[in-house]
Amino acid sequence: MTARLAGAADRPEIAALRTRVFVEEQGVPAEIEQDAHDAGAVHVLDRDDDGRLVATGRLLVRDGRGVIGRMAVDASARGAGHGAAVLAELHRQAVLLGLTEVELHAQLTARGFYERAGYAAVGDVYQEAGIAHVTMRRALPGEV
Ligand SMILES: CC(C)(COP(=O)(O)OP(=O)(O)OC[C@H]1O[C@@H](n2cnc3c(N)ncnc32)[C@H](O)[C@@H]1OP(=O)(O)O)[C@@H](O)C(=O)NCCC(=O)NCCS
Repeated sequence: MTARLAGAADRPEIAALRTRVFVEEQGVPAEIEQDAHDAGAVHVLDRDDDGRLVATGRLLVRDGRGVIGRMAVDASARGAGHGAAVLAELHRQAVLLGLTEVELHAQLTARGFYERAGYAAVGDVYQEAGIAHVTMRRALPGEV
C-alpha cells in the first residue's frame, strides 16, 4: 500500500468515492457528506494496482486536537489493507503537524477496525446522519 497526501487534482476522484460509499451505499444526505471542513482538511488517498482511487480519509485540527473523518474504502476493495494504509498515513500527517492525539466518530460497524489501529472508545453511542457512532481516541505518535 502506498497511501499518500492527496493533491488538488485528486479531489474530484475523492469526492466520487465518498459519494459512492456514504451517499449511495449508506444513505447519508449529500449536503451532510460534503461539508465546509473539506477545504481546510488534509486529505489522504490510496490506489489499487490499476491506479484506481479506492480509499480516502481526512484530518482536521480542532482545538489543538486531530480529528480524523470520512474514512471510505470502495466496497470492491475492502479487507485488503487500504483503510489501514490511509489511517496510518493520516497518523503520520498528524504527527508532522505536531499533534499528540487524534479523535474520530466511528460508525459502530467500524469500531473493530479502529481498535486494531490503537483507538479506544470514549463515552456513549449516539446517532449521526442516522447512523450509530461512538467517539474514539488514540495517542500519537505510538506506532505510526
Ligand atoms: C471501515 C473501512 C474504512 C475499513 O477499511 P478496509 O480497507 O476494509 O480495512 P483493512 O483491510 O485496512 O483492515 C485493517 C484491519 O481491520 C480489520 N477490519 C476491517 N474492517 C473492519 C470492521 N468493520 N470491523 C472490524 N475489523 C475490521 C481487518 O480485518 C484488518 O485486520 P488485520 O489487520 O487483523 O488483518 C471500510 O470497510 C469502509 O470504508 N467501510 C464503509 C464506510 C465506513 O464504514 N467508514 C467508516 C466511517 S467511521
